[in-house]
Amino acid sequence: MSKIKTKFTERIGIDMPILGFSHSTDVTAALTKAGGMGVYGIAHDPPDKVQARIDAVRGQIGSRPFGIDIMMPKGMPESETLESVQAKLPQANLEFVEGIAKKYKVPEATTKTFYNTVLRSPSYFEGQLQVLLSSDVDLVAFGVGLTPDAVGRLKAVGKIVGALIGSPHHFDAYRDIGLDFIVAQGSEAGAHTGTIGTMVLVPEIVQMAGDLPVLAAGGIGHGSQIAAALAMGAQGVWLGTSWLATSEHAQGDHAIGDRLRGKLFAAGSGDTRITRGSSGKPQRQIRSAWTEEWASPDAPEPLKMPYQHALVGDLMTAIEEHEVDPLLHSPAGQGVTWSLELRSVAQVFQALSDQTIAGLDLVNSISKSP
Ligand SMILES: Cc1cc2nc3c(=O)[nH]c(=O)nc-3n(C[C@H](O)[C@H](O)[C@H](O)COP(=O)(O)O)c2cc1C
Repeated sequence: MSKIKTKFTERIGIDMPILGFSHSTDVTAALTKAGGMGVYGIAHDPPDKVQARIDAVRGQIGSRPFGIDIMMPKGMPESETLESVQAKLPQANLEFVEGIAKKYKVPEATTKTFYNTVLRSPSYFEGQLQVLLSSDVDLVAFGVGLTPDAVGRLKAVGKIVGALIGSPHHFDAYRDIGLDFIVAQGSEAGAHTGTIGTMVLVPEIVQMAGDLPVLAAGGIGHGSQIAAALAMGAQGVWLGTSWLATSEHAQGDHAIGDRLRGKLFAAGSGDTRITRGSSGKPQRQIRSAWTEEWASPDAPEPLKMPYQHALVGDLMTAIEEHEVDPLLHSPAGQGVTWSLELRSVAQVFQALSDQTIAGLDLVNSISKSP
């Protein structure tokens, strides 16, 4: 198999400069086995589940490296519970959500998920962090938010620590806290996202970061974009959407069902939309009746994180559990356009690798004069 090395891939011990984010342990393991690095997102796993997730990945990859992504958004309440927040939700927002359930005939949720059982809080994050500190995970990335204290504690036990950012202003806040790498995530990305495009953000952050390695993210789903990211000075890429429609994601924890996968296959680059309707923060999702309802002129202003989630948690659980079309949705980036058929992680990875090499060859073949 071909290898593309950068200083950062050498440091973390992988063959190709492709890191992949996923909420599936099987996808995470398959990414590492393919020659990249899988990074498992624990946002939806309460502290008492995190070790089992780590074991599920480690059991498949032996001593090869993998990472964990943790979200630590600022401003989450410590003294509230899901029930206490739900008792105070504004009437207009409750009526709007009940109206969606009625309009699309959504049956009641019978399952317990992150959405309808957890309220994000500092102690939830601290519990997750404690597990990471005593684990054999190689790398930890912070998604939305971090504390310098958490970064310092992870570094003290030898973890390679990085953070996702969406603007130069985020980079300013993070530059002096000892991070080992930065993921510059452009607006095209799936899930929580900003407003600056990947093509603009990546070289801007590379320039600001100096020797600190930068990975490019957001809308990347073809190897020609990976070649372009390397040409812009990134030392690798970080992909999320590309793995959603893989065979590994169709099974196991956080499995994606046939109906949602069908929507991912059908979606083009213009079929995503940013909404605050799910978490309270802007999140890019595949376009669905869910995104359109929250964008309608009758919709109330979504609540802030974590209150929006307390408002819609039961309904989101029910939509997923009963696969209710047309409300069924998922975070997804504009690169969803390259998800066209069921493939394994290894097949997607191989295609990306081949296209990257073709892209680099193409650039090299362009004649230059001094
Ligand atoms: C379904 C899904 C869930 C995500 N959840 C998280 C998360 O919990 N934490 C995080 O840091 N990033 C999360 N992301 C963002 C990814 O880490 C990554 O930055 C993004 O997917 C890159 O852009 P792309 O989707 O265009 O490949 C998620 C992305 C997707 C598609």
